[in-house]
Amino acid sequence: MHMSVKRLGRAVTAGLVAAAALTAATHSAEAADTLGSAAAGKGRYFGAAVAAGHLGEAAYAATLDREFTQVTPENEMKWDAVESTRNTFTFGAADQIVTHAKTQGMKVRGHTLVWHSQLPSWVGGLGATDLRAAMNNHITRVMEHYKGQIDSWDVVNEAFQDGGSGARRSSPFQDKLGDGFIEEAFRTARAADPAAKLCYNDYNTDGVNAKSDAVYAMVADFKSRGVPIDCVGFQSHFNSASPVPSDYRANLQRFADLGVDVQITELDIEGSGAAQASSYRTVTEACLAVSRCAGITVWGVTDKYSWRSGGTPLLFDGDYAAKPAYDAVLAALGGSGGDGDGGDGTVSCTATYTRTADWSTGYNGEVTITAGSEPVTSWSTTVTLTPPQQVSATWNGSPAWDASRTVMTVRPTWNGSLAAGASTSFGFTVAKNGSAAAPVVGACTAS
Ligand code: XIL
Repeated sequence: MHMSVKRLGRAVTAGLVAAAALTAATHSAEAADTLGSAAAGKGRYFGAAVAAGHLGEAAYAATLDREFTQVTPENEMKWDAVESTRNTFTFGAADQIVTHAKTQGMKVRGHTLVWHSQLPSWVGGLGATDLRAAMNNHITRVMEHYKGQIDSWDVVNEAFQDGGSGARRSSPFQDKLGDGFIEEAFRTARAADPAAKLCYNDYNTDGVNAKSDAVYAMVADFKSRGVPIDCVGFQSHFNSASPVPSDYRANLQRFADLGVDVQITELDIEGSGAAQASSYRTVTEACLAVSRCAGITVWGVTDKYSWRSGGTPLLFDGDYAAKPAYDAVLAALGGSGGDGDGGDGTVSCTATYTRTADWSTGYNGEVTITAGSEPVTSWSTTVTLTPPQQVSATWNGSPAWDASRTVMTVRPTWNGSLAAGASTSFGFTVAKNGSAAAPVVGACTAS
């Protein structure tokens, strides 16, 4: 199995440098084995929100450049960053990201022109006439600066209230200019850079609900009256209180049916292991099922810099090791060394290790097994301990031991059969006996 070296490298998360080197070495030989290349095989981009301040960190830039084909500046294009003083524009940090993207051939999503948040206080102090002029000037100046370099702009962000009212959210724009500010912003944007796709972007609009119904009605109205709009962004910030809605795909489809592209713009899903992987897989499959879903952007590269890092919501951990969620997304995209059309006849799996608990005398480990682009009927992998560690319990997997009891080969108990891209996990408790070393998880073998 040609990917086993890379997977082994990933599993040894402590050996970050070695893992990065192995990944780089296999990159060119396995064109479909990154998020970006696998998504490209499906006619889509796969992007990440990026902070200019991290581009100088070698592992950050290496992961970004290897895996992603699109970037969104996380904060650098917001109003407070580019026009903190009226009519004085500062593009340094945003330019750094756009330049980086250009040298890497990545698309850029512009985020965002008109939003109630991260808005300098001078804007809120203006009267209606002045505010209208300031809004149009801001849109025009920022878009002209990046003319021809932006794939899609979030022209207006988060203009609707949460809850069942379907009403507009209070903001200086809404309160002083009324409902028409959104239409005006889109018309100004079209004139400033006719090549950029113009998006409306929001959260809690990911399923069918009162808020997404209100956005839907606005987009339908814009399309019927010829107000320029090309795309709708679904932020897709999920956690256990706000999980991936069961009608996520159907909601994307109904917007696409209005004649706009849909984009998953700020995806992150709090959690870990197989559960997180499964939610990421659902989102990826939903995008692939909707032909007008142009691409997916995750809201950051690594958990350690996430805006909600406590929820470890991203695809790479703080050491830039790929998580089970990464394997699930890549498999759903038809990657893992496949030919990019999802199902290349090669039965394969990956194994990813996480330490789920740790105490003075022991720890719990969890290994997530993810099927590649073909279904799996059985799988096995190895867990190698550092003596004198000993396994004291296992669950959801049946162990067999070598003579020295350091190498445990694990096969399924009830959970051998996996659909393409699906995950399961097994766990074990280790008595440290004085050694806190991480176990080494071997390549996954599938049949
Ligand atoms: C967040 C950034 O990730 C944080 O760094 C910043 O402090 C606040 O904004 N919806 C959006 C994004 O459209 O711009 C927000 O980004 C997350 C919610």
